[in-house]
Amino acid sequence: MCAEPFPPDPPRHPAPGTPVTTRLTISRKSLQIILMIICVCRGLNTSKVTDAIAAGARSPRAVHAHHDTTINCGKCCETVCGMIRETQCAEAERASALVAAE
Ligand code: FES
Repeated sequence: MCAEPFPPDPPRHPAPGTPVTTRLTISRKSLQIILMIICVCRGLNTSKVTDAIAAGARSPRAVHAHHDTTINCGKCCETVCGMIRETQCAEAERASALVAAE
């Protein structure tokens, strides 16, 4: 009798270069995406920050202003800046791909 081996555990740490939004997403067995709180002081989660960035916010202050809040302790600013940078990089890549296609 031969038992099936267990599948390997997923990596506990993301590979270098993994986008912030991916690192902040927890996958469970059902692959349910859980929204992470980015700003503890004002209760902004990944969805709210992403919405603000999609609406044109390009600074932590603008992200907070989009939701009628203000920066309190500032500990969320680094994460928000990372999410903004990733959005800008993705936009730049899309723009250069369009230029290259023309
Ligand atoms: S965590 Fe965002 S202001 Fe404190």
